Amino acid sequence: MSRSDSPTIGVFDSGFGGLTVLHALLQRFPQARFVFLGDTARLPYGSKSRRTIARYAAQSAQFLTREQGAEFLVIACNTASALALDAIREAVTVPVLGVIEPGAAVARATSKTGDVLVIATDATVHSHAYAAACETRGLRAIEKACPLLVPLVEEGWTNHPVTAEVLRIYLDELLAQAAAEGLKPDALVLGCTHYPLLRPLIEHAIAQSAGAGIRVIDSAESTADTATKLLRGGDSASGDRAWAPEIRCFATDSVEKFQRLGSKFLGRPVGDVQLIDLGG
Ligand code: DGL
Repeated sequence: MSRSDSPTIGVFDSGFGGLTVLHALLQRFPQARFVFLGDTARLPYGSKSRRTIARYAAQSAQFLTREQGAEFLVIACNTASALALDAIREAVTVPVLGVIEPGAAVARATSKTGDVLVIATDATVHSHAYAAACETRGLRAIEKACPLLVPLVEEGWTNHPVTAEVLRIYLDELLAQAAAEGLKPDALVLGCTHYPLLRPLIEHAIAQSAGAGIRVIDSAESTADTATKLLRGGDSASGDRAWAPEIRCFATDSVEKFQRLGSKFLGRPVGDVQLIDLGG
């Protein structure tokens, strides 16, 4: 397979947390061209209404497809996946994959008790998209909004005592709610693309809590596996490792911060980030 046979894959997030999903995609599509857009000027999406999130996400999806030629879109943002997937599908003509269904699928594969916990932004929790995706798989889910976590990650406080304390409080509340409802959760879904950067702190907080033994689930790998199935019928071996994927990154603001923090999410330098204007 040559680069010209490979699709251009558009990856979208409200910020740069979605680079964790891009990282998983790079392993599976070394020959592909990737265009990543972080709508950093309008971040956070997680505190906004469905209508606004849908408008922002649809504009972003159109930029990736119409202006950058993406032939397949991965919505690497839980909030946009939860509240705007239909609006995005109406706005573009290419296949669109969100992160909620793949996240729920790993929860199903992981949980033995059938009870799972989900932490996410306010908007994602209030949409109950995870609860619905879990319920169709026979799982019971308790969702909790953790609005302080995105700003802490954005601040770079991914290994900071304040973040550890905030996490402990959120998890204690969540576990108390689960106990009150008679659930025995054995999996915790990270329902926000910023949270994988907090995974060591989250795992530590769980180990110290009443929920010791709960497995942490990140939808990035599962989303990349689903993209592989959709684009290559699941043939994960066809990638020629000699190729270096081509990545172009765009942001609507804070290019310097994107470059600095983005490499933590992507696990390698993000390179040049182009500033674009999608309007208000
Ligand atoms: N990327 C968003 C998500 O995965 C979190 C940041 C935001 O609130 O925009 O839900």
